[in-house]
Formats: sequence, C-alpha cells, structure tokens
Amino acid sequence: MTGLEERPANLEPRAAGLDYLPGFGNQHVTEAVPGALPHGGNSPQQAPLGLYAEQISGTAFTAPRQHNRRSWVYRIRPSAKHPRFRQVDGGMMTASPILNTAPEPNRLRWDAFPLPGEPRTFVESLFTVGGTGDVRRQNGVAIHMYLATRSMDREYFVNADGEMLLVPESGRLRIATELGVLEVEQGEIAVIPRGIRCKVELLDKAARGYVLENYGDLLRLPELGPIGANGLANPRDFLSPAAAFEDRDEDVVVYQKYLGNLWAADYDHSPLDVVAWHGNYAPYKYDLRKFMVIGTVSFDHPDPSIYTVLSSPSPQEGTANADFVIFAPRWLVGENTFRPPWFHRNVMSEFMGLLWGVYDAKAEGFVPGGASLHNCFTSHGPDEETYARASSVELAPHKVDGTMAFMFETRLPIVPTPQAMAAANLQPDYDDVWRGIQRHFRAGTRAGGEV
Ligand SMILES: [Fe+2]
Repeated sequence: MTGLEERPANLEPRAAGLDYLPGFGNQHVTEAVPGALPHGGNSPQQAPLGLYAEQISGTAFTAPRQHNRRSWVYRIRPSAKHPRFRQVDGGMMTASPILNTAPEPNRLRWDAFPLPGEPRTFVESLFTVGGTGDVRRQNGVAIHMYLATRSMDREYFVNADGEMLLVPESGRLRIATELGVLEVEQGEIAVIPRGIRCKVELLDKAARGYVLENYGDLLRLPELGPIGANGLANPRDFLSPAAAFEDRDEDVVVYQKYLGNLWAADYDHSPLDVVAWHGNYAPYKYDLRKFMVIGTVSFDHPDPSIYTVLSSPSPQEGTANADFVIFAPRWLVGENTFRPPWFHRNVMSEFMGLLWGVYDAKAEGFVPGGASLHNCFTSHGPDEETYARASSVELAPHKVDGTMAFMFETRLPIVPTPQAMAAANLQPDYDDVWRGIQRHFRAGTRAGGEV
C-alpha cells in the first residue's frame, strides 16, 4: 500500500484526517493534497503547489541501506524559518547521565504515579524516573512518566535527544506530528522519531503513561532466528500516519528538548505544515494485542526476550541498548514447570510497568501506572504468595488473561532521579514481598523421603 490510491479529484485536503499506512520501516508515499508530491526526483527546482522540499535524516546519510531512515517532506514553509530558542524551565524532565544521586543496589517499586491537580500538558508533565548512558554520547535511555491533564494548544514539542516510545496506561492521545496524526489508546504504543515536531492532545480528561526515550540506535524489530519468518510483532501491524497538515498562521510556541534542557521559540505558524511526504523516517503505532506470543509447549519457559516487541541494538552483539518487552495474555501449558517468571539475577537492568490486570509474578503491590526497577544483578522474582501458589498448583493448561505488563530492559544500570527516589509513591517496604519465603530444604533427604 502506498497511500496514493485513487481518490476522487474533488476530495477535500486531508487537513485533519486520520489514516494509516501499514508496515514497519516501509518506504511510505503519501499526500494530503493531490499533486503535492514531486515525481522522478526529491528536490525539483520548484516543488509542486508552491511547497518547500526538505529532507529529514534519521540516520547518517551513509548508514547501511537496511537501517537507513530518511523522509522527504513537502511543506508550506521550510522548518528553518523560526526565531531563536530561549531556555525555559524543564520542570521534572531531565536527561542522562543522572547526577547528584548515589545509585543504590536496592530493588525499587512505585505505586501509581499521581496525576497533578493542576492543568499540565504532556510536555509540562514529563517526570523523569531514571536514565542511563549519556545523551551527549548518544547511548542509553531515559525513562519518563507523562501525567497530562490538558491538551497542547498552540504548543508543539520536538525532542532532539532521542526517539520516544509512548506506552499509554490510561487516557487516549491524539498525537499530531509533522508527518500526520496518530491516535493511541491503552494497549497501543506510539513511537515519535527523534527530531519530529508534534503536538499531544488528550481525548479524555487526563492521560498517564510511560515513555522510553532512546538515545541509541533506532528501535527495530528483533531478529527471529529459528522462529522463522513470522511471529512476535508482525511488520504489517505497525501503522504510520498518512500525511495531514495544519495550515495555521498564528502565534504558537515550539518547545525543544535539547541535551536534557527545555527550550522554546515563538513561531508565527504551525510547524505541522507538511502537505506530503515520502520515506521511512516516520512516527508509528502498534497494538500490543496483535503480538503473537511464543512460549513453551513442553517444559520450562523461554527467557523473556521471546516477548521482545522492539529493540535498540548496541555495538555489543546481542546486547541491547534497550528492549521493549511485553507480558501479554497467553496460554501456559508447561509440564513439571514453575510457570511464573523465575527467580533470577540479570546483568541487564529491568524497568517494568503495568497497563492493566495482575502481573503473573506479583500477586499484589505492582499496580497499573506504577513501576518497578530491578537493576543490574539485583535479586528478584516471584513474591512469596506467587511462589506458594505456583509451586503447588495442579498444572492444567491455564490462560494468563486480562493483563498487560511491559519491561524496558537495558544493558546499562538505570540510575533513578533524585525526584523518583523522593517520590511519595516509592514503596518503602518492597523487600517485604520476599521476606516470608521459608526454607524447605532438609539435608540428607530426597523427595519421597529416600536418604
Ligand atoms: Fe527479571
């Protein structure tokens, strides 16, 4: 599908439309006004309809073809037409490295992050929970919550630091971008590429969710190896927006996140003025409920990497700068198997959130809109209640249903921000979920009582 299907000639410009182009990383071709795209070249002496041609490079010009991302946009004004940016208060948003804190080896868990009592936009509400790597060296991630209570209006945002993976927990979002409009709800994710201007509007009274800000290589689909050509997140289920634009000549503010600080500039027009575009550097969304879950049909269960939706590789082979992993509804059928996630320690660091339901390794205390952080080599696993149940339950086929948890996993230890460590919703007693676990070992005995 190209986005250039036959349309009636009298079709109104799709200024506020909502249409999607399927496929992950596809070379999309789309125009909101017929005839806006040039053909046979990217930058003709005069672009059609009096538009300006502009290339947006999401990877180095010379990145390998299979990873090269760029889009050509045809817009009312070139994006270069803007005044100086001035630094403004970034609120609770910051960037890696997170300084002024002593990273601790404790397991951390937060109750649901509260929505503010006053009106806050998506940008104003960003609360950085932690981060790792270094934004200036383009590695690592930052993890934020958004806790928005009002739509952006005459306000736009661009993040020059990294692409943003949004995971809505409650409240629907309408994300208008330079390349078109995405609407996402709980159960869907959206990825806003680095450097793409956008505006986040609320379709409900408030919106809460998680943000993985990726400073590293762009998120991509994981390799499938012996799984074969199909499975996990299928490429055709990723949707990019068809071209849609705002023809708006009025005073607006464009906020830019640059190396962790927030800047602002007063434009006299909307920066979302792209009438047509083609290329493969574009926002996209994905419905997590379309994820094809793969698990054991014999015994044990695979490592949770089998649930990877998207991955940002690092220079270290097989070792992600960041993985986005989900724990979706699935059948558990393993025989002679402790079925929940096992006890473990991991060189990779794990930040988890919950969208709805109950996560199968934690009977209580891990709630939608909350989070947990199990950093490099911290010991974790099922809580006492979960262990007691799962180690003695009769192992009939069982469906884990009505739940969706996720994990941001990274090869680098995640440093929580001072504000996250001081947050009133940080649980002081998380360690207690394992406190009551009893020893069962008796030396010299085997199951069945034999010596
Ligand atoms: Fe883990």
